[in-house]
Amino acid sequence: MKPIKITDGIYCLPAIDWNLRDFHGYVAHRGTTYNAYLIIDEKITLIDTVKAEFGDDLIDGIGQIVDPRKVDYVISNHTEMDHSGSLARVMQEVGEDKPLYCSAMGHKNLSRHFTQQWNYQPVTTGSELRLGKKSLSFLETRMLHWPDSMVTYVKEDKILFSSDAFGQHYTSLARFDDEVSEDIMPFAREYFANILLLYADLVLKLVDKVKEMGLAIDMICPDHGILWRKDPGRIINAYVEWSTQKPADKALVIYDTMWHSTQKMAEAIVVGLAEEGLLAKPMHLRSFHRSDIITEVLDAGAVVIGSPTLNNGLFPTVSAFLTYMKGLKPKNKIAAAFGSYGWSGEAAKLINQELEAMKYDLVDPGLRIQYVPDGGGLKSCRDLGRKIGQALKG
Ligand code: FEO
Repeated sequence: MKPIKITDGIYCLPAIDWNLRDFHGYVAHRGTTYNAYLIIDEKITLIDTVKAEFGDDLIDGIGQIVDPRKVDYVISNHTEMDHSGSLARVMQEVGEDKPLYCSAMGHKNLSRHFTQQWNYQPVTTGSELRLGKKSLSFLETRMLHWPDSMVTYVKEDKILFSSDAFGQHYTSLARFDDEVSEDIMPFAREYFANILLLYADLVLKLVDKVKEMGLAIDMICPDHGILWRKDPGRIINAYVEWSTQKPADKALVIYDTMWHSTQKMAEAIVVGLAEEGLLAKPMHLRSFHRSDIITEVLDAGAVVIGSPTLNNGLFPTVSAFLTYMKGLKPKNKIAAAFGSYGWSGEAAKLINQELEAMKYDLVDPGLRIQYVPDGGGLKSCRDLGRKIGQALKG
């Protein structure tokens, strides 16, 4: 591990997971980075750790700056194992009796993940910890995205250690936003869509709270990916935009197919949507990963879901995608269902039930075509696309 100095007395310790492609089911096209941070002051402080398999690497990184036994305090902003997986290894190295600061929920959660009885020091929003010239303050961010989540702020340097918030699953030897191209934003967006979307309303409240507290922020240091130092306001504004979920004139036709009939329907619906001036895209569920589709769903004004009927039910990929989407609760969309069938044809009705559970306005009862769509059937699909397009444009 190569420690990176981010300002006087503060270092980033990045564990770079180049080969990761599956982050608990979310596709990480460019791996990820687990960032821990070390503050050198009268009291030497480690903020967060890294995934267990990088524990030795982290100890090596700390050791390049200071003897790990000289670390006085450890801060855990978040219990999830990508940030606390090597906590036991770290505590063993720095000293099991060293104070471990975390939220009250962090204390509970860490106690359930680890059997060791460490010197827990629970903190709450507004708690302060003086390190010497620098001081830390804590802000609990419950459910962003776990109950234990909190962020840590260094007033003297105006640096926010933001835990998962503002992160990206991204690997690079570059560590700062000004060292990477504009390409970083899609990674930040995909991360938001798959990790934080469910809590979009809480993100907006948090941004308001940070404004109300008057926290000046010169740098945001997340636990994944690059650090925002050139323009931290850019990622904050992007979070506000993504959380607001303003629907664009954009429609996604998300489907799977058995013998291409539902595919033909999907492609004809896309034509109808485009005829109404919408940006329309078919997304086959075995050609696109669900986390890429959810990223596209973020600003789509319409989602059109298609499934053939299989064994009186939904095609499994469609069912799985609807479960994933329902969990993340994207908002402000209109929707419709479609699908081909042989003899029973329940799929459209089952999709409608899921779309209604997501509180989407259904613009059509659902288009079903038996076996293979003929010319008239394809026209019905185009008409459905146009109907959805007209409904979205109001
Ligand atoms: Fe990056 Fe919620 O862990």
